[in-house]
Formats: sequence, C-alpha cells, structure tokens
Amino acid sequence: MNHPAPVSDLYGASLPQRAATLARIDRFLASQLPPTPCVVIDLETVRQHCLALRALLPGTRIYYAVKANPAPPVLAALARMDIGFDVASIGEIGRCLGLGINAQRCCFGNTIKRERDIAQAHAAGIALFAFDSPAELEKLARAAPGARVFCRLSVHAAGAEWPLSRKFGCSAAMAVELLTHAGSLGLRPTGVSFHVGSQQTDPLRWDAAIGTACSVFNACHRAGVTLDLLDLGGGLPAQYRTPLPALAEYAATIMTSVTRHFGSSAPQLMIEPGRYMTADAGLLRAQVLLIARHGGHDARRWIYLDAGRYNGLAETQHEAIHYPLRTRHDVAPAEPAVLAGPTCDSTDIIYDRANYAMPLDLAIGDTVDFLSAGAYTASYASVEFNGFPPLATHCVDTAATTA
Ligand SMILES: Cc1ncc(COP(=O)(O)O)c(C=O)c1O
Repeated sequence: MNHPAPVSDLYGASLPQRAATLARIDRFLASQLPPTPCVVIDLETVRQHCLALRALLPGTRIYYAVKANPAPPVLAALARMDIGFDVASIGEIGRCLGLGINAQRCCFGNTIKRERDIAQAHAAGIALFAFDSPAELEKLARAAPGARVFCRLSVHAAGAEWPLSRKFGCSAAMAVELLTHAGSLGLRPTGVSFHVGSQQTDPLRWDAAIGTACSVFNACHRAGVTLDLLDLGGGLPAQYRTPLPALAEYAATIMTSVTRHFGSSAPQLMIEPGRYMTADAGLLRAQVLLIARHGGHDARRWIYLDAGRYNGLAETQHEAIHYPLRTRHDVAPAEPAVLAGPTCDSTDIIYDRANYAMPLDLAIGDTVDFLSAGAYTASYASVEFNGFPPLATHCVDTAATTA
C-alpha cells in the first residue's frame, strides 16, 4: 500500500532544493492564509529549474510552454531569464506581448490554428510556426508568407503518464514531402519537432524520436532542402509520487543521441518544457469539505475536497498524474480512501484506484496539499462549473521581497 509519505521524507535531506521550495511556500501560506482552493508558485524554483536545464543542455534554445502555467509573474520571471516562449493561441501570444516579451521570442507551436490567428501572430512579429498537415501548411503560406516553419512528427509516447500521441504529428515520409514543398509555397522550411508525451518516464523515448527526426533531415537534404532546427518538444517530468531518473539522465540521453545520429552536423536544438519548469515549483492547497462512508461493500472513506477534476486537478483524469499529498496528520495511521472533488458530477473523482491512503484523524476543515502542482492545474481549471470560480494562483518571489 502506498501511504502518503510524510513531507519530511519527500523533501528531506536528500532533496534540499525541494525542502527550500516548500519552506518558502509554507511561509506564504502561514502569513497570508489565502482562501482554498489555490495554487502557490515559488518563482525562485522556476528560475532554478530554468538554470538547471540550460546548464545540462548547453546551446539549446529553451521555449517555455506557456500552457503549463501562464500566470503573468511566472512569464515575467522567465522572460528575465532570456528564454523563448512556446505559445498555443492568440490568448497566450497576447499575454506574452502584454508583458513586453518580443514576438521574435515566441514560437507558435500549436499545429491546429485559425488562419486569422496565424495572420495576427505574423503581423505581430512571430516568425516561427509549427504544422503537421498539408492544410495547415497552406494556411501558413497564405497567412504568414516567408515565415520559418517546422513539421511535427508523430512519435511513440510509451512511458508518458500524460501521452500526447495520435492527435498530433505526421509520419516521417509526409514530413519530408511537406518540408520539401514548403519552399515553393513561399515559406522557409526550417526543421522538425516532436513530443514524446508529457511526464515521460523513459529518457530513451527521445533517442528513438531523434533518430526519426534525423532520417527526415537526411531525406530533405537529399531533396535539396537543408533543415537546421530540431525541436525536442516537452516531456521532461516533474517529481510526482513515483521517483524518476534525474534531469541529468534525460539531458545526457538527449545529447548523446543527437551526437550519435547527427555527428558533427548537429542542428540548432530547441526544447519546449512546460511541466518541468513549473510543476515542482507549485503546491495546490485544498480543504476537506466532507468525509463519509457509504455503507455496502466498499468500506473506504470518501474524502471530498474543495478542489477536484474541474477546478485544478484535471490531470487526475484516468488517475494519470499522481501528486504527492501532504496533510498535517501525515505521521498518524492512514487507511485507503477515495478522494473526490466538490462538484455535482460523478466524474469528479480524484483518486479511487491509485492507492492513496489518508490519515485516519483527517477531519472536515483540514487542508490537503497536492505537491508539485504548479503545472497544468490553474490553466486547466474551468471558469465556473457548478459556480465554482477559477482556481486562484499566488506567486511567491523571495528575491523580490529581499531586494
Ligand atoms: C507543442 C507543445 N510543446 C510543449 C509542450 C509542453 O509539454 P510538457 O509540459 O510535457 O513539457 C506541449 C504540451 O502540451 C505542447 O503541446
């Protein structure tokens, strides 16, 4: 049985950085007592993750995937780190530009775009666009003439806890066909991207994808088109309940693979981390609204929280993402429980089969903290399902307060 680990184990001496993250967030929670549910983001951790990635993937251009957490203080903190931004919509573009981020630093990475939005992005100065189909390429040719375009490949996402396969990407053969055609449409074919699935637990997934990307580079070269950009996508994981290889192992696998496949003619690398940048920097605080047993064959307690599938915990769909939990009773005896959200929807169940045990003395009114919840929580929350407001985000910046 997987009992919730006491926070001293999760963020103990072996993980001093995470203990520091939580200490900063806890100081904010204790002093501000924000209403629940809410997400609290520690900007210092976001910066540290960005620096760690930059150090481990030298020369690689980082484009933060805004969708993971578009809170303006997060974007502003990352803008000061001099990185780029992977944007999915006009809304995200507007938010970046509104913060003074130059459009040249943005990449329109969504392969499904309204033609009018492409034109608006192009007019605003965005020069780099993704596509994965003939029709999208034609839209780009009409609405963003002269733009640099890259083709997203479909790659295997086995090992990803939040897979992004099937819906996106085309075959390597189609990518070659489209990239070699792009020039005649007045576009600048520039490279290839892929996404190995979000929260990818297997670093070797990048190796296979880089191999496929290299075959596209070679085939395009033979057809007279030279590509120079390889976008490694997202997929770098957060530290949820199951321990995973360290970031250094992912980075080493990627760099070794690029050298093995491309040799001395390695392209410019770019990466679009979302989850890795913000998940571990955040905590979602919820409160217990009700504890009940329903009788019958299932003797477990049902613990109903003020946060659920529709107001922050969307990625617990199919119980995919397993957040570490923390309560103030974590050293007390625990027993298996079902965790559910507050809405009148029976799909609003957070964990039923994922083997979460909750302290026996947990009571109505207690808080339950979902750790590593800084990505895909607030940005995924509904705006008023059942009348519940969007999930609030608070950002803590100790550098700003000590400056
Ligand atoms: C195009 C693109 N890039 C990057 C990301 C970020 O992925 P992750 O959060 O796994 O890093 C996503 C996630 O959906 C995406 O669609």
